[in-house]
Amino acid sequence: MLERTFILFKPDSIARGLVGEILSRFEKKSLKIVAMKLVRMDKNQAGKLYSIHLGKKFYDELITYVTSGTVIVMVIEGINAIRLIRKIIGATDPLEAEMGSIRGDYGSDITYNLIHASDSLETAEREIKIFFNTDNVA
Ligand code: CMP
Repeated sequence: MLERTFILFKPDSIARGLVGEILSRFEKKSLKIVAMKLVRMDKNQAGKLYSIHLGKKFYDELITYVTSGTVIVMVIEGINAIRLIRKIIGATDPLEAEMGSIRGDYGSDITYNLIHASDSLETAEREIKIFFNTDNVA
């Protein structure tokens, strides 16, 4: 099924110069960028994005982290894009992520884990709306 998913390049992937490397992995799997922008996320947007984690012990550090620098938000389209991208990215904890996945190859911390991707179609729809209007998605 042709799907659209939301991707966030977190501040560490930008600071470490890994954006091109990560994007090229998506492109090589025939995934297509349909919207993309550089933003400095505010606490309100970060709180909406991570509302399901409110109250967890890592929540405050997560919000501070994703609002600490420039990020890239993106909508990516492709066949089974949601599951495919989560496979390319690997498990949240870099220690669990398979070698060959983005977090397996480049991650070293469960919070500072480079990139976020939606986990379902419903989540993708909700997350895309936090950052994009329908008229700036191709
Ligand atoms: P992400 O895929 O963006 O979803 C929630 C984020 O919270 C996660 O990546 C990590 O950056 C961060 N996080 C920190 N600790 C944990 C944890 N124990 N479980 C899940 N996410 C965590």
